[in-house]
Amino acid sequence: MRLDKKGDGVSSNFTNKCRQHGSLFTVVRKSQEDRFAFIAEWYDPNAALLRRYQLLYYPKDGSVEMFDLKNHRSFLRRTKYDDLHLEDLFVGNKINVFSRHLNLVDYGDQYTSRKLGSRKERTLGMIKPDAINRMGAILEMIYSTGLSITKMKMVLLSRKEAMDFYAEHQSKFFFSNLIQFMTSGPVVAMEILGDNAVSAWRKLLGPTDTSKARSEAPETIRAQYGTDGTKNAAHGSDSVASAARELEFFFPSSGGRGPANTAKLTDCTCCIIKPHAVSEGLAGTIVSAISGAGFEISAMQMFNMERANAEEFYEVYKGVVAEYNSMVVELCSGSCIALEIRGTDAPRTFREFCGPADPEIARHLRPKTLRALLGKNKIQNAVHCTDLPEDGILEVQYFFKILDG
Ligand code: RTP
Ligand code: MG
Repeated sequence: MRLDKKGDGVSSNFTNKCRQHGSLFTVVRKSQEDRFAFIAEWYDPNAALLRRYQLLYYPKDGSVEMFDLKNHRSFLRRTKYDDLHLEDLFVGNKINVFSRHLNLVDYGDQYTSRKLGSRKERTLGMIKPDAINRMGAILEMIYSTGLSITKMKMVLLSRKEAMDFYAEHQSKFFFSNLIQFMTSGPVVAMEILGDNAVSAWRKLLGPTDTSKARSEAPETIRAQYGTDGTKNAAHGSDSVASAARELEFFFPSSGGRGPANTAKLTDCTCCIIKPHAVSEGLAGTIVSAISGAGFEISAMQMFNMERANAEEFYEVYKGVVAEYNSMVVELCSGSCIALEIRGTDAPRTFREFCGPADPEIARHLRPKTLRALLGKNKIQNAVHCTDLPEDGILEVQYFFKILDG
C-alpha cells in the first residue's frame, strides 16, 4: 500500500477540495431550518487513527458541515454536497463525503434520533448452493424490493462451518442432509439492510418448503429457485438476535477471519462492478448478464476501497490514461463488487463482452455490450475488466488475496 509519507496528504487535499466547493456557495444560517446531527468516524490511514466528527446535514439545500470533535474546530464549513441524501443518514450506515468514507456511529442530538431513529435493520441473507446459478436474479429481487446489500462474499463452507452455522438444528432429522447440501458448493453470504430487513427478507424468501412456497407464494425466491424441502435456494435470519450472530459468523467485526473466499486464481480475469453501478442497484442485472453469457463467476465479494488501494490497483494507468485520477475517485466513492470470471480465454472474451471502455463509443459500435447498455461515461462505465491477459490473475489476486488476505 502506498501512503502519503508526509502524513497530511489526504487531509490537505480534502481541505482544499472542500474550500473550492465551499467558496461556490453562500453560507446562510437560519435558526428555524431543519438540521440533523450525527457522530461520524473516519479511519485516517496516515495517522492510523480513528477520527471523530460532528456531522451536520441541512436537508433544505443538501449541505453538510463537519466539526473535529477532538480539536474542537471546524473541519468542513457548510457546503452543498449533492451526493448525500437524507435516506443515507442513519446510524450504522457508511457514507461518502468528498471521497472520504465516514461511519455514522451515533445520532448527534435527541432531535435527530427522534426524527430519523428509524426501523432500519440488518439481516444475514445467504444464497444456497442450489440457487448459485441464479444469484443475479436473486440480487435483482433484493434491490427491487428496496433493500440494500452492504456486505457480500461468496464462500465454500467447510463441514465444521456449516455445522456451527446450523448448530440449532443438530438434533433434527434433516440435519445431516442439510450439512451435506450446504457444503456441496459455494454460497453467497450478504448483509442486507433496510426497513424491517429481518421480516422483509423472510417475506421475499417465502415458506421453508419449496413446494409449499410454490403453491402459497409463487412470486417468492424459494418458489422460483428452490428445489425441495431442504434445498430451498436461500436463507434468512429469523430474528434480530440471530441476524447479529449470523452476520458475525460470516463478517467478523474484529479478530476472526470468517469463511474463506472461493477465488481459484487460475484461468481467470477480473471484473469490478463499479460503485456508481452498485449504488444504482445494477449489480443483479450485471451478474445475470455475465452468467447468462456463459461465464463462470467463481468468486464474488464486496469491497470498500481506500484511496491508496484504488491508486495502487490502477497504477498501470497512471500517466497513460488521462482519466486516471477520476477513475481512482470513482473506485473509492462507495462499495464495489469484485468478481473472478473464468472461462476459455477469459480475459479476451470477457473484455469483448464488456465492450469499449467509453460507453458513447460502445453504443455506436457494440450497442448490446454491458458498457453500452449500463455505462454513463468513460469513468462511470459500469464495470472494470482486466485489459491485458497476463494481468487477469494479478488483478484477481489483488482483491481476493491481498485485500481479503
Ligand atoms: P433458513 O434457516 O435456512 O432461513 O430456513 P428456515 O428458517 O425457513 O427453516 P429452518 O426451520 O430454520 O430450517 C433450516 C433449513 O434446514 C432445511 N430443512 N430441511 N424437512 C426438511 O427436510 C427440512 N426442514 C428444514 C432447510 O434448508 C431450511 O432452510
Ligand atoms: Mg432458520
